[in-house]
Amino acid sequence: MTSGNVYNITLLPGDGVGPEVMTQATRVAEAAATKFGFSLNLDTRLIGGCAIDAYGTPLRDEDIEAARASDAVLLGSVGGPKWDNPSAAVRPEQGLLKIRKELGLFANLRPVTANEALLVASPIKENRLRGTDMLVVRELTGGIYFGDRKRWTDEQGRVAMDTLIYREYEVRRIVELAFELARGRKGRVTSVDKANVLDSSRMWREITTEIGAANPDITLEHMLVDAMTMKLIQQPGAYDVIVTENMFGDILTDEASVLGGSIGLLPSASLGAPAENGRRIGLYEPIHGSAPDIAGQGIANPAGMILSAAMMMRMSLNESEAAAAIEAAVDNAVNDGVHTGDLGGSASTSEFGDAVLTRV
Ligand code: NAD
Ligand code: IPM
Ligand code: MN
Repeated sequence: MTSGNVYNITLLPGDGVGPEVMTQATRVAEAAATKFGFSLNLDTRLIGGCAIDAYGTPLRDEDIEAARASDAVLLGSVGGPKWDNPSAAVRPEQGLLKIRKELGLFANLRPVTANEALLVASPIKENRLRGTDMLVVRELTGGIYFGDRKRWTDEQGRVAMDTLIYREYEVRRIVELAFELARGRKGRVTSVDKANVLDSSRMWREITTEIGAANPDITLEHMLVDAMTMKLIQQPGAYDVIVTENMFGDILTDEASVLGGSIGLLPSASLGAPAENGRRIGLYEPIHGSAPDIAGQGIANPAGMILSAAMMMRMSLNESEAAAAIEAAVDNAVNDGVHTGDLGGSASTSEFGDAVLTRV
C-alpha cells in the first residue's frame, strides 16, 4: 500500500543509550516507510542532560512547540550520572516530565508479551510465562509526580514533602481508556491501587467501580499494588489490561519487563486526548532509561525503541502495515537468535538493527 504521505516526526534521542537505540529505530522506520510508500521528515532536537549542557534547560519551549506541531514524537531516554547531583536545581528528567505534561500525554500504554524464543532469557519459569500478553495503562500526568513538593528544615532537622493528588477527571479518562482498550483485547481490566491505605486510591477505586458498572461487558477486578507485584511474577498470563496511577505504573512495568526477558525490549506510547479533528498527539519511547552502565559501548538492545517506532506508525500515522512489518521483523530477528547482551547474546546494537532492517 502506498499512502504517499509525508509525516513530520520530532526526534528526541536524549542521553546515554538513547541516541544509540534511536539511530537503529530511525533506520528501520525509514526502510519501512520506503517499503510502504510514505516518507518521514525527521527533526532532531535535544532533551535531558544534553539539553542542559547546550542550553541550560532540559527542554526548551520552542522544542515543545515543534513537538506539538509534528505528527508524532520519538524519544530515546534521558539522564545520567553527569547530571545526577541530588542538590542540582535542573535535572534531565524534568524535560521528560515537562513534555508529558505540556502535551497532555496522560495515557502511557506499555504492552508486555513473552516471546517464545526468549522464554529461557527470563528468570521466570517457562510454564508460568506462556500466554503472557498484557497491556499496562499507566496514568502519566498526575499523582505524586506532579503534586506540590517542598523541602524545609525544622527543629527535628530536614523535612521533605511530595504530594499525591488526583482529580476525578484524571482518573476517569485513564480508566475509561483502559476499558476501551480491553474491549479490543480479552475484555478484562485489573485496576491496581493501594485503597487499604491511600485516599487517592479509594477515590480511584470508587470511580473505577462506577465505570465498571457502566461497562458490564468488561470484567473488572481490583488489586492492591503490593499483591500485584507478586501476582505479576506468579501468574503473568492471567492479566489483560492493567490500569494504574503514575508511580505504581512506573514500578510495575520495570518489574513486568523481566517477564519478556529484558527491559530493552519494551516499547511505549504516551497519548493525549483526541482533538476535535480526531487527532491524538502521541509520544513514543522505550520504557528503559539511559542505561549509564552500558552507554557508549554500542551494546544496548534497540528493540524497545524500534518497537516504539512501530507503535507510532500504527497509532499516530495510521500506517499499520508498516507497523506490523517492523514488529514481525523484530520478532523474526529475535527468533532467529539475534540477541543483544541483555538477552545473553553477543549482537551489538547496530547488528540487531541490521537484522531487523533486512527482515522488514
Ligand atoms: P535504566 O533503565 O537506564 O537501566 C536499568 C538496567 O537496565 C541497567 O542495568 C541497564 O544497563 C539495563 N538496560 C536499560 N536499557 C537497556 C537496553 N536498551 N539494552 C540493554 N540493557 C538495558 O534505569 P536506571 O539505571 O535506573 O536509570 C538510569 C538513568 O535513566 C537515570 O538518570 C534515570 O532517571 C533515567 N531514566 C530515564 C528514562 C526515560 O528517559 N524514559 C526511563 C528510566 C530511567
Ligand atoms: C519512565 C522513567 C521516568 C518516569 C523518569 C525518568 C522520570 O522512569 O519513563 O519510566 O518515572 O516516568
Ligand atoms: Mn520508569
